[in-house]
Amino acid sequence: MTATGRYTLVQRLLHWLIALLAIPALGVGMTLGWLGFEGARDSFGIGITNALYSGHKTIGVLILLLMTLRLVLRLTLGSPPPVPTLTPFERVASRMVQGLLYLVLMALPVVGWLATAAGGYPVQFFAWKLPGLIAKDPALSETLFQLHGILGWAFLALLALHIAGAMRHWLIKRDGVMRRMSLF
Ligand code: HEM
Repeated sequence: MTATGRYTLVQRLLHWLIALLAIPALGVGMTLGWLGFEGARDSFGIGITNALYSGHKTIGVLILLLMTLRLVLRLTLGSPPPVPTLTPFERVASRMVQGLLYLVLMALPVVGWLATAAGGYPVQFFAWKLPGLIAKDPALSETLFQLHGILGWAFLALLALHIAGAMRHWLIKRDGVMRRMSLF
């Protein structure tokens, strides 16, 4: 935490970098989940489909790494004191949504990783293939992919609440909440 009531520069950079990565992760994931492998291959061709799968996995693992770093910084550096104009409801609601965002953004990649490995597919991270961590088990893979999809919807709902809250503080209440996380 800084004396200016803002998150540290590293925390703010991490926030916006993860936001930039989470949007394509969600968009590509939903497209692949919706179409499935065959549907994606018929729509985009095999080259683009493989790139979408490996890109989705790489971005997902990157998010997991960055979120771990972010959690460590949050637990060690904390957060600036709340803006005094916040109502008790706003305080509780924002803490809940933020806590759930941490949880979902870490659970999503872990479940995606395990679902992929249990399906016997490679866990790609750029040009590397990461260890699967669990044995091949198609039934487990199907269950984990279902959970991955549910977590994806939960993430979308939390993101909508988070952005709505941020916009309200930025454009309607104009109470300086947005400045705590903005880069400039
Ligand atoms: C924050 C990171 C991630 C987000 C937001 C995310 C989101 C999603 C979403 C929403 C879906 C669609 C699920 C459905 O509708 O059934 C999906 C599919 C998928 N995800 Fe992720 N995911 C993430 C990380 C990962 C990771 C780390 C891996 C593996 C290493 C992975 C592997 C997959 C695969 C293979 C599919 C396609 C499943 C299919 O073909 O039906 N995801 N992802």
